Amino acid sequence: MNLPNINEARKRTDKKTEYIYLNEEYDKSAFKGKKYFIRTYGCQMNVHDSEEIAGHLESIGYKSVDSIEEADLVILNTCAIRENAHDKLYGFLGRCKHVKTSTNPNLIIAICGCMAQEENVINELKTKHPYVDLVFGTHNICDLEKLLNNKTEKQNIEVFSCEGNVYENVPYKRDSKFKAWVNIQYGCDKFCTYCIVPYTRGKQRSRKSIDILKECEDLVKNGYLEITLLGQNVNAYGKDLDGEISFAELLKKVSDTGIKRLRFVTSHPWDFTDEMIDVIASNDNIMPYIHLPLQSGSDRILKLMGRRYTKEEYITLFNKIKNKVKGCSITTDIIVGFPNESDEDFNETLDVVNTCKYDSAFTFIYSPREGTPAAKIDDKVPMEVKEKRLHELNELINKYSLENNKKLLDKEVEVLVEGINEKDSTKLYGYTDTMKLVNFEGTKDLIGTLVNVTITDAKSFSLDGKLK
Ligand code: SAH
Ligand code: SF4
Ligand code: F3S
Repeated sequence: MNLPNINEARKRTDKKTEYIYLNEEYDKSAFKGKKYFIRTYGCQMNVHDSEEIAGHLESIGYKSVDSIEEADLVILNTCAIRENAHDKLYGFLGRCKHVKTSTNPNLIIAICGCMAQEENVINELKTKHPYVDLVFGTHNICDLEKLLNNKTEKQNIEVFSCEGNVYENVPYKRDSKFKAWVNIQYGCDKFCTYCIVPYTRGKQRSRKSIDILKECEDLVKNGYLEITLLGQNVNAYGKDLDGEISFAELLKKVSDTGIKRLRFVTSHPWDFTDEMIDVIASNDNIMPYIHLPLQSGSDRILKLMGRRYTKEEYITLFNKIKNKVKGCSITTDIIVGFPNESDEDFNETLDVVNTCKYDSAFTFIYSPREGTPAAKIDDKVPMEVKEKRLHELNELINKYSLENNKKLLDKEVEVLVEGINEKDSTKLYGYTDTMKLVNFEGTKDLIGTLVNVTITDAKSFSLDGKLK
């Protein structure tokens, strides 16, 4: 068995990525009558991986159910980004164990995703959670059928610490009929010092543009209205491939497929080119919305984080985007309490927020991830100080979110209707081109269509509107 190992992951070879085109004949009767339940934690990448897992399972006969109690197989697709992601998993695992010991001893419990790529997690599963039947990593989702057929091992652990390949012709079962995720690149080579992702997801591997375009063209043909291109650093797309087009060129080609709405996540400020900004500005179907993670406003901390840009460079880029892309909304990610962050460092972060006045932001307290360089730093800042900073930052972020949202009052916006509001079934919800959540009264036949809505009220996290 080849356990995930962070030291190994760091010593990446220049081995060329293998492109594997699946052309399997699936046997729908193999697991006929069996039912599965997937719980997904983490980012869009994990959400999309769960669509891949569901696709594989349904192509061999499994059907999905909505609860652990009805399932023959429970899959927990995990996230490792912060400690609280671990806590959530173990809470849910407890519920699965209860079902297995009380009502369904044949329940298969499987764990996959980013936590499954951590050596300490694997060791904990082996010693403390022997009732977990199957563990697989982020690199071998398409081996799922083989793993389910393997009945010899008591606890079957199949995770690799490897560079990773690229699989094509994956049988996705997409959650939505009008909104699709499309991977353009896997893994990450940035190795920001606080982050676990380069270890859990392998080295950066771009898909070939010809395969991406084919997938996007098929989505358009099948009536999809929105595509989001996915990668940890979409703007570094193609850099790992000889002679591949750049992200700006890819964006233009996907835009030319005629998809109504095109989005992408995540853009690292470091690789953001002028050519990209021009393509976004000059194509109406590329949405005026960019997620541009800041992480910190202090040059000292940015350097320790290994982010490769300064506060000034970030703000210059920010302004360039705002000036060129009309009405562009920009959101961000910020970490407070990186080891030994001082009040001055934190004030630099607040200063960037006051300059950029973000549309919204995801804010986090730094969480040490075992094996990453930052986790080795002896941190002198007490948790209370970090919590206070987070609170102060959030107040400021919410103030600007509200201010930005208020600018939309009485304006007409286009909304892609996604579903029925969970709290009030007379209302629908959807997102504007700038990725703002809008709630408004309407009937469910509008789900999956683009409608015009006049904004009647603005809050920090959402807008209320009225159908035109
Ligand atoms: N590839 C993206 C980020 C993916 S992770 C990028 O580089 O921008 C999503 C966010 O989680 C990060 O932007 C960061 O703000 C946060 N994050 C990552 N590692 C973290 C850690 N150890 N502690 C706290 N937050 C973290
Ligand atoms: Fe993590 Fe940095 Fe890669 Fe983003 S770019 S996934 S923060 S290592
Ligand atoms: Fe979490 Fe892995 Fe995404 S660690 S944030 S699920 S890449």
